[in-house]
Amino acid sequence: MNNYSDRKDRVIVALDVDDIKDCKRILSNLEGQISIYKIGMELFTACGPKVVDLVHQTGAKVFLDLKFHDIPNTVASACRMATRLGVFMLNVHATGGLQMMKWAAEHSRAEADRLGIAPPIILGVTILTSLSEQEIRDEIGINRPMAEEVFHLAELAKKAGMDGVVASPLELEVIKKYVGKDFIVVTPGIRPAWYVTGSDQKRVVTPKMAFDKGADYIVIGRPIVQDPKPSVACEKVFAEIQ
Ligand code: C5P
Repeated sequence: MNNYSDRKDRVIVALDVDDIKDCKRILSNLEGQISIYKIGMELFTACGPKVVDLVHQTGAKVFLDLKFHDIPNTVASACRMATRLGVFMLNVHATGGLQMMKWAAEHSRAEADRLGIAPPIILGVTILTSLSEQEIRDEIGINRPMAEEVFHLAELAKKAGMDGVVASPLELEVIKKYVGKDFIVVTPGIRPAWYVTGSDQKRVVTPKMAFDKGADYIVIGRPIVQDPKPSVACEKVFAEIQ
């Protein structure tokens, strides 16, 4: 992703707030700057599907980041419902397994087909960017190195028919090189150079580094939405990715 305006259109802002008023404030502050917003479990649980409509009314697209993880039948039904909301992108946990991801993709595409709309981009979440290699080993019991585990899950997601994965920018190059360059990689864990770190995200890089390494989309939350002036923070991110 080397073209600057292309990069700007691929910055996804995470609307990690818990009420509609705050959400409206951010949307109006960033109007004309951002074309894709991520609605995660906090905002969706607080406000429900009407918040998806709210973003759509501004002309922007929605990445519905609910990270479904359940038995295949339940996840497939949830993906069908998410598709009905007209979202641009949605995701499921890759650790839910091959059948779960397969059914998720099939049901989402069949629903889009039935409605005559474009199918959402469907992604598998590999390993959360908040987890370190030591944590996945000592707490979860995954004994292979992080990069190997992420690569394994990305391959599984591809086999299941996912359009791509959500992965840390640190594993981006390996996924692009070995799983395929057309396999979409969305990367959270982005920290602009000017942002003071010290949060829960452990595997982080700057916006520019993520695009340079081949990210198709980057997700930025707190550095923009918690800034007193989101649009100024957003401009600073744009300046960085040029
Ligand atoms: O505030 P911050 O920039 O860390 O926000 C990152 C966003 O990306 C959060 O909404 C979080 O839920 C999401 N995310 C993540 N790691 C993943 C998948 C999604 O941090 N692997």
